[in-house]
Amino acid sequence: MMLSFRCFLFSTSSPSSYFSIFLPKPHSFLPFTFSQKLGSYTTSSSAQSMPSKLLFRQLFEKESSTYTYLLADALHPEKPALLIDPVDKTVDRDLALVKELGLKLVYAINTHVHADHVTGTGLIKTKVPDVKSIISKASNAKADLFVEPGDKIYFGDIFLEVRATPGHTLGCVTYVTGDGPNQLQPRMAFTGDALLIRGCGRTDFQGGSSDKLYDSVHSQIFTLPKDTLVYPAHDYKGFTVSTVGEEMLYNPRLSKDKETFKNIMQNLNLSYPKMMDVAVPSNMVCGLQET
Ligand SMILES: [Fe+2]
Repeated sequence: MMLSFRCFLFSTSSPSSYFSIFLPKPHSFLPFTFSQKLGSYTTSSSAQSMPSKLLFRQLFEKESSTYTYLLADALHPEKPALLIDPVDKTVDRDLALVKELGLKLVYAINTHVHADHVTGTGLIKTKVPDVKSIISKASNAKADLFVEPGDKIYFGDIFLEVRATPGHTLGCVTYVTGDGPNQLQPRMAFTGDALLIRGCGRTDFQGGSSDKLYDSVHSQIFTLPKDTLVYPAHDYKGFTVSTVGEEMLYNPRLSKDKETFKNIMQNLNLSYPKMMDVAVPSNMVCGLQET
């Protein structure tokens, strides 16, 4: 079923209902207890007002050098979780990890329509039918839910904010952990291919535009706090994480002025992606070709 929406959340008072439209998120005041053994990340503010704790895993698919991210609210009784940019080839690994950690997978999310691998979202849905797939409305791809800039994706008490970062593709978005007294510090930006560590995604197909990419990275990512952690969709050199401040200074493309950036992008002379003709049509339908 296709469903458009502007805002949705996971309600702690009603575990069976994962969506509410246009409702502010109520605070809950769960104590810090059992999740310490699972957690790998902290939240920001004082203990009295801060109920959330993120469980975070960075997973890797070696053929396409893709990162998949698993995030969960480890303090919530149901431990609701989401996967960002799952790959079809590593779905079984990812779902086994979800099970081992006792998480309830709620969402499988894409940052964009990938050209270099087949998304795992459709396959995940066949194995865990309650999971909802999410992609940007601007991508024109199929999914259960479509997000637009400003939407918030709640899992437990933690949320991701949606920021439009087109330029690599027309529909690219960056998911940023929320800003607020009970949210994570430093913030985390899942940038897809808009911003890579010391690089960026190519802009020569899928509605790409170096002009748009420069503007969207500078207005939507480089305006975040400098300590915001940058988690890209890929890395080919062994990097795992960067920060906004680091990329503003040292990204060899996006730290330059716009004309220099456009010139760099026009002269990359990249070859045609080998998975493109398979991956893009498949990813337009959640990774599952329609029969
Ligand atoms: Fe991409």
